[in-house]
Amino acid sequence: MLAGRLQAGLAGRARGRPAAGAAGSAGQTVPVASVVPIDSADDPRLADYVRLTDVHLRRSLEAQHGLFVAEGEKVIRLAIGAGYPPRSLLVTAERLAGLGDLAGSLPVPVFVVSAPMAEALTGYRLHRGALASMQRRPLPALAQVLAGARRIVVLEDIVDHGNVGAIFRCAAGVGIDAVVLAPRCADPLYRRAVKVSMGAVFAMPYARLPDWRSGLADLRAAGFRVLALTPAADAAPIGEIPARGRLALLLGTEGDGLSARWLEAADELVRIPMRGGVDSLNVAAAAAIACYLLAEPPD
Ligand SMILES: C[S@@+](CC[C@H](N)C(=O)[O-])C[C@H]1O[C@@H](n2cnc3c(N)ncnc32)[C@H](O)[C@@H]1O
Repeated sequence: MLAGRLQAGLAGRARGRPAAGAAGSAGQTVPVASVVPIDSADDPRLADYVRLTDVHLRRSLEAQHGLFVAEGEKVIRLAIGAGYPPRSLLVTAERLAGLGDLAGSLPVPVFVVSAPMAEALTGYRLHRGALASMQRRPLPALAQVLAGARRIVVLEDIVDHGNVGAIFRCAAGVGIDAVVLAPRCADPLYRRAVKVSMGAVFAMPYARLPDWRSGLADLRAAGFRVLALTPAADAAPIGEIPARGRLALLLGTEGDGLSARWLEAADELVRIPMRGGVDSLNVAAAAAIACYLLAEPPD
Protein backbone atom coordinates (compact mmCIF):
# COMPACT_ATOMS: atom_id res chain seq x y z
CA MET A 1 0.00 0.00 0.00
CA LEU A 2 2.67 2.47 1.11
CA ALA A 3 5.00 1.34 -1.68
CA GLY A 4 2.16 1.49 -4.22
CA ARG A 5 1.19 5.05 -3.36
CA LEU A 6 4.79 6.18 -3.24
CA GLN A 7 5.57 4.53 -6.55
CA ALA A 8 2.62 6.37 -8.05
CA GLY A 9 4.14 9.59 -6.77
CA LEU A 10 7.48 8.74 -8.31
CA ALA A 11 5.84 7.95 -11.63
CA GLY A 12 4.06 11.31 -11.50
CA ARG A 13 7.35 13.07 -11.01
CA ALA A 14 8.96 11.06 -13.73
CA ARG A 15 6.27 12.38 -16.07
CA GLY A 16 7.46 15.86 -15.23
CA ARG A 17 5.10 16.99 -12.48
CA PRO A 18 7.27 18.70 -9.88
CA ALA A 19 6.60 17.81 -6.26
CA ALA A 20 5.41 20.70 -4.14
CA GLY A 21 8.44 22.70 -3.19
CA ALA A 22 10.68 20.75 -5.57
CA ALA A 23 13.03 22.13 -8.13
CA GLY A 24 10.86 23.18 -11.04
CA SER A 25 11.13 22.21 -14.68
CA ALA A 26 12.98 24.35 -17.24
CA GLY A 27 11.97 27.96 -17.23
CA GLN A 28 10.61 27.97 -13.69
CA THR A 29 12.25 29.83 -10.88
CA VAL A 30 13.98 27.26 -8.72
CA PRO A 31 13.62 27.94 -5.02
CA VAL A 32 16.72 27.45 -2.91
CA ALA A 33 16.27 24.65 -0.41
CA SER A 34 12.64 24.74 0.41
CA VAL A 35 12.25 23.04 3.78
CA VAL A 36 9.12 20.89 3.48
CA PRO A 37 7.70 19.41 6.68
CA ILE A 38 5.99 16.10 5.92
CA ASP A 39 3.43 14.56 8.23
CA SER A 40 2.79 11.18 6.63
CA ALA A 41 5.12 8.39 5.52
CA ASP A 42 2.61 7.81 2.67
CA ASP A 43 3.33 11.21 1.14
CA PRO A 44 4.18 10.58 -2.53
CA ARG A 45 6.91 13.23 -2.46
CA LEU A 46 8.95 10.75 -0.42
CA ALA A 47 8.84 8.12 -3.17
CA ASP A 48 12.61 8.15 -3.76
CA TYR A 49 13.18 6.89 -0.21
CA VAL A 50 10.72 4.03 0.04
CA ARG A 51 11.87 0.67 1.49
CA LEU A 52 15.58 1.23 1.23
CA THR A 53 16.36 -2.21 2.63
CA ASP A 54 14.38 -4.02 -0.07
CA VAL A 55 17.15 -4.82 -2.56
CA HIS A 56 14.84 -6.10 -5.30
CA LEU A 57 12.49 -3.13 -5.15
CA ARG A 58 15.35 -0.63 -4.99
CA ARG A 59 17.23 -2.22 -7.86
CA SER A 60 14.33 -1.83 -10.26
CA LEU A 61 13.11 1.48 -8.87
CA GLU A 62 16.54 3.13 -8.99
CA ALA A 63 17.31 1.86 -12.46
CA GLN A 64 13.90 2.91 -13.75
CA HIS A 65 14.12 6.42 -12.36
CA GLY A 66 17.88 6.96 -12.65
CA LEU A 67 18.46 7.73 -9.00
CA PHE A 68 20.51 6.54 -6.07
CA VAL A 69 20.52 7.35 -2.37
CA ALA A 70 23.44 8.81 -0.44
CA GLU A 71 23.45 8.62 3.34
CA GLY A 72 25.06 10.94 5.84
CA GLU A 73 26.21 14.51 5.43
CA LYS A 74 29.80 13.70 4.45
CA VAL A 75 28.82 11.23 1.74
CA ILE A 76 26.10 13.55 0.43
CA ARG A 77 28.62 16.38 0.13
CA LEU A 78 31.06 14.07 -1.70
CA ALA A 79 28.34 13.04 -4.17
CA ILE A 80 27.42 16.64 -4.88
CA GLY A 81 31.10 17.60 -5.14
CA ALA A 82 31.60 14.81 -7.68
CA GLY A 83 28.90 16.36 -9.84
CA TYR A 84 25.85 14.20 -9.11
CA PRO A 85 22.80 16.47 -9.09
CA PRO A 86 20.64 16.11 -5.96
CA ARG A 87 16.88 15.52 -6.34
CA SER A 88 15.91 16.06 -2.71
CA LEU A 89 17.07 15.59 0.88
CA LEU A 90 15.29 13.69 3.64
CA VAL A 91 16.19 14.62 7.18
CA THR A 92 14.79 14.01 10.62
CA ALA A 93 13.62 17.09 12.48
CA GLU A 94 16.33 16.60 15.15
CA ARG A 95 19.10 16.62 12.55
CA LEU A 96 17.98 19.52 10.37
CA ALA A 97 19.94 22.18 12.23
CA GLY A 98 23.06 19.99 12.20
CA LEU A 99 23.13 19.96 8.38
CA GLY A 100 24.43 23.51 8.39
CA ASP A 101 24.78 25.12 4.99
CA LEU A 102 24.03 21.85 3.15
CA ALA A 103 20.26 22.14 3.63
CA GLY A 104 20.25 25.82 2.79
CA SER A 105 22.46 25.74 -0.28
CA LEU A 106 20.75 23.25 -2.58
CA PRO A 107 17.98 24.07 -5.04
CA VAL A 108 15.98 21.00 -4.04
CA PRO A 109 13.36 20.31 -1.40
CA VAL A 110 14.51 19.26 2.06
CA PHE A 111 11.83 16.93 3.39
CA VAL A 112 11.67 16.96 7.18
CA VAL A 113 10.14 13.95 8.90
CA SER A 114 9.97 12.51 12.40
CA ALA A 115 12.34 9.65 13.25
CA PRO A 116 9.49 7.05 13.44
CA MET A 117 8.19 8.24 10.07
CA ALA A 118 11.66 7.91 8.55
CA GLU A 119 11.86 4.37 9.87
CA ALA A 120 8.39 3.47 8.56
CA LEU A 121 9.31 4.85 5.14
CA THR A 122 12.83 3.53 4.67
CA GLY A 123 12.65 0.33 6.73
CA TYR A 124 15.47 1.17 9.12
CA ARG A 125 16.55 3.74 11.71
CA LEU A 126 18.29 6.71 10.15
CA HIS A 127 21.45 6.73 12.25
CA ARG A 128 23.12 9.33 10.12
CA GLY A 129 20.10 11.61 10.16
CA ALA A 130 20.10 12.62 6.50
CA LEU A 131 19.54 10.94 3.14
CA ALA A 132 19.79 12.47 -0.29
CA SER A 133 18.24 11.21 -3.47
CA MET A 134 20.73 11.84 -6.28
CA GLN A 135 20.48 11.70 -10.04
CA ARG A 136 22.63 9.06 -11.75
CA ARG A 137 24.83 9.94 -14.70
CA PRO A 138 25.58 7.73 -17.71
CA LEU A 139 28.53 5.39 -17.06
CA PRO A 140 31.63 6.12 -19.13
CA ALA A 141 32.65 3.65 -21.82
CA LEU A 142 35.27 1.04 -20.91
CA ALA A 143 37.88 2.58 -23.22
CA GLN A 144 37.48 5.94 -21.54
CA VAL A 145 38.07 4.47 -18.09
CA LEU A 146 41.06 2.41 -19.23
CA ALA A 147 42.77 5.31 -21.01
CA GLY A 148 45.73 6.38 -18.93
CA ALA A 149 45.06 3.82 -16.16
CA ARG A 150 48.03 1.72 -14.99
CA ARG A 151 46.40 -0.35 -12.26
CA ILE A 152 42.82 -1.54 -12.40
CA VAL A 153 40.68 -3.90 -10.35
CA VAL A 154 38.16 -6.09 -12.17
CA LEU A 155 35.21 -7.52 -10.23
CA GLU A 156 33.54 -10.64 -11.56
CA ASP A 157 29.94 -11.00 -10.35
CA ILE A 158 30.53 -9.82 -6.79
CA VAL A 159 27.00 -9.60 -5.41
CA ASP A 160 27.46 -8.18 -1.92
CA HIS A 161 27.12 -4.39 -1.98
CA GLY A 162 29.21 -4.06 1.16
CA ASN A 163 32.08 -5.90 -0.50
CA VAL A 164 31.82 -3.74 -3.61
CA GLY A 165 31.90 -0.60 -1.48
CA ALA A 166 34.85 -1.85 0.59
CA ILE A 167 36.82 -2.73 -2.55
CA PHE A 168 36.26 0.75 -4.01
CA ARG A 169 37.40 2.30 -0.77
CA CYS A 170 40.61 0.30 -0.46
CA ALA A 171 41.37 0.54 -4.19
CA ALA A 172 41.02 4.32 -4.09
CA GLY A 173 43.01 4.50 -0.86
CA VAL A 174 46.09 2.68 -2.16
CA GLY A 175 46.28 4.24 -5.61
CA ILE A 176 44.36 1.99 -8.01
CA ASP A 177 43.28 4.03 -11.05
CA ALA A 178 39.96 2.47 -12.02
CA VAL A 179 37.50 -0.35 -11.35
CA VAL A 180 35.91 -2.48 -14.06
CA LEU A 181 32.74 -4.47 -13.32
CA ALA A 182 31.55 -7.65 -14.98
CA PRO A 183 28.00 -7.29 -16.31
CA ARG A 184 26.45 -9.05 -13.27
CA CYS A 185 28.51 -7.36 -10.58
CA ALA A 186 26.52 -5.43 -7.93
CA ASP A 187 25.82 -1.72 -8.38
CA PRO A 188 28.42 0.57 -6.73
CA LEU A 189 25.76 3.28 -6.34
CA TYR A 190 23.48 1.07 -4.28
CA ARG A 191 23.03 2.72 -0.86
CA ARG A 192 25.07 0.19 1.12
CA ALA A 193 27.94 0.20 -1.38
CA VAL A 194 28.02 4.00 -1.32
CA LYS A 195 28.01 3.98 2.49
CA VAL A 196 30.71 1.34 2.95
CA SER A 197 32.90 3.01 0.31
CA MET A 198 32.64 6.27 2.27
CA GLY A 199 32.06 8.02 -1.03
CA ALA A 200 35.00 6.42 -2.88
CA VAL A 201 32.51 5.23 -5.53
CA PHE A 202 32.15 8.88 -6.56
CA ALA A 203 35.86 9.51 -6.95
CA MET A 204 37.01 6.25 -8.55
CA PRO A 205 36.36 5.97 -12.30
CA TYR A 206 34.51 2.78 -13.18
CA ALA A 207 32.86 1.11 -16.15
CA ARG A 208 31.06 -2.12 -16.93
CA LEU A 209 32.37 -4.69 -19.36
CA PRO A 210 29.86 -4.88 -22.18
CA ASP A 211 30.48 -8.60 -22.50
CA TRP A 212 31.63 -11.11 -19.88
CA ARG A 213 33.02 -13.60 -22.44
CA SER A 214 35.26 -11.24 -24.34
CA GLY A 215 35.93 -8.92 -21.42
CA LEU A 216 39.45 -10.06 -20.59
CA ALA A 217 40.50 -9.96 -24.23
CA ASP A 218 39.42 -6.31 -24.27
CA LEU A 219 41.63 -5.59 -21.27
CA ARG A 220 44.59 -7.38 -22.81
CA ALA A 221 44.07 -5.54 -26.09
CA ALA A 222 44.28 -2.32 -24.09
CA GLY A 223 47.73 -3.40 -22.86
CA PHE A 224 46.96 -4.87 -19.44
CA ARG A 225 48.61 -7.96 -17.97
CA VAL A 226 45.68 -9.84 -16.48
CA LEU A 227 46.31 -11.31 -13.01
CA ALA A 228 43.66 -13.61 -11.52
CA LEU A 229 43.58 -13.47 -7.73
CA THR A 230 42.83 -16.94 -6.43
CA PRO A 231 43.76 -18.92 -3.30
CA ALA A 232 44.51 -21.98 -5.49
CA ALA A 233 47.70 -23.79 -4.49
CA ASP A 234 49.12 -23.75 -8.04
CA ALA A 235 48.95 -19.93 -8.26
CA ALA A 236 52.14 -17.90 -7.88
CA PRO A 237 52.66 -16.27 -4.46
CA ILE A 238 51.90 -12.56 -4.77
CA GLY A 239 55.32 -11.64 -3.40
CA GLU A 240 56.92 -13.10 -6.55
CA ILE A 241 54.87 -10.96 -8.95
CA PRO A 242 56.71 -7.96 -10.37
CA ALA A 243 54.57 -4.84 -10.02
CA ARG A 244 55.46 -3.53 -13.48
CA GLY A 245 53.51 -2.38 -16.50
CA ARG A 246 49.77 -2.10 -16.73
CA LEU A 247 48.09 -4.59 -14.39
CA ALA A 248 44.47 -5.76 -14.16
CA LEU A 249 43.68 -7.57 -10.88
CA LEU A 250 40.71 -9.93 -11.17
CA LEU A 251 38.63 -10.70 -8.08
CA GLY A 252 35.96 -13.38 -7.92
CA THR A 253 32.64 -14.00 -6.23
CA GLU A 254 32.18 -14.51 -2.52
CA GLY A 255 31.26 -18.19 -2.94
CA ASP A 256 32.95 -19.92 -5.84
CA GLY A 257 35.59 -17.36 -6.69
CA LEU A 258 36.58 -16.57 -10.27
CA SER A 259 34.89 -18.50 -13.07
CA ALA A 260 36.86 -21.24 -14.85
CA ARG A 261 36.66 -19.13 -18.00
CA TRP A 262 38.36 -16.12 -16.45
CA LEU A 263 40.93 -18.27 -14.62
CA GLU A 264 41.89 -19.86 -17.93
CA ALA A 265 41.91 -16.58 -19.81
CA ALA A 266 44.13 -14.78 -17.28
CA ASP A 267 47.85 -14.29 -17.98
CA GLU A 268 48.79 -15.44 -14.50
CA LEU A 269 47.20 -16.88 -11.36
CA VAL A 270 48.28 -15.09 -8.19
CA ARG A 271 47.67 -16.10 -4.57
CA ILE A 272 48.04 -14.49 -1.20
CA PRO A 273 49.59 -17.35 0.79
CA MET A 274 47.25 -18.55 3.55
CA ARG A 275 48.13 -19.90 7.00
CA GLY A 276 46.39 -21.07 10.14
CA GLY A 277 44.04 -23.47 8.38
CA VAL A 278 42.22 -20.60 6.62
CA ASP A 279 41.56 -21.45 2.98
CA SER A 280 40.71 -18.00 1.59
CA LEU A 281 40.09 -14.37 2.49
CA ASN A 282 36.99 -12.26 2.21
CA VAL A 283 37.18 -10.71 -1.26
CA ALA A 284 37.52 -7.16 0.08
CA ALA A 285 40.40 -8.20 2.36
CA ALA A 286 42.10 -9.95 -0.57
CA ALA A 287 41.58 -6.83 -2.67
CA ALA A 288 43.17 -4.63 -0.02
CA ILE A 289 46.29 -6.79 0.20
CA ALA A 290 46.67 -7.27 -3.55
CA CYS A 291 46.02 -3.64 -4.41
CA TYR A 292 48.51 -2.47 -1.82
CA LEU A 293 51.25 -4.85 -2.94
CA LEU A 294 50.77 -4.29 -6.67
CA ALA A 295 49.92 -0.57 -6.75
CA GLU A 296 52.49 1.78 -8.22
CA PRO A 297 54.48 3.59 -5.56
CA PRO A 298 53.35 7.19 -5.03
CA ASP A 299 55.47 9.86 -6.78
C1 LIG B 1 35.98 -15.82 -0.71
S1 LIG B 1 37.04 -15.85 -2.06
C2 LIG B 1 36.46 -17.21 -3.00
C3 LIG B 1 36.98 -18.52 -2.51
C4 LIG B 1 36.80 -19.60 -3.50
N1 LIG B 1 36.60 -20.84 -2.82
C5 LIG B 1 38.01 -19.69 -4.42
O1 LIG B 1 38.60 -20.76 -4.48
O2 LIG B 1 38.35 -18.71 -5.09
C6 LIG B 1 36.58 -14.51 -3.09
C7 LIG B 1 37.70 -13.94 -3.93
O3 LIG B 1 38.67 -13.32 -3.09
C8 LIG B 1 39.96 -13.46 -3.67
N2 LIG B 1 40.78 -14.21 -2.71
C9 LIG B 1 40.40 -14.71 -1.52
N3 LIG B 1 41.43 -15.29 -0.89
C10 LIG B 1 42.49 -15.17 -1.70
C11 LIG B 1 43.86 -15.56 -1.62
N4 LIG B 1 44.34 -16.22 -0.55
N5 LIG B 1 44.66 -15.27 -2.65
C12 LIG B 1 44.22 -14.60 -3.72
N6 LIG B 1 42.95 -14.20 -3.86
C13 LIG B 1 42.09 -14.47 -2.87
C14 LIG B 1 39.78 -14.21 -4.97
O4 LIG B 1 39.72 -13.30 -6.04
C15 LIG B 1 38.45 -14.91 -4.77
O5 LIG B 1 37.81 -15.15 -6.01
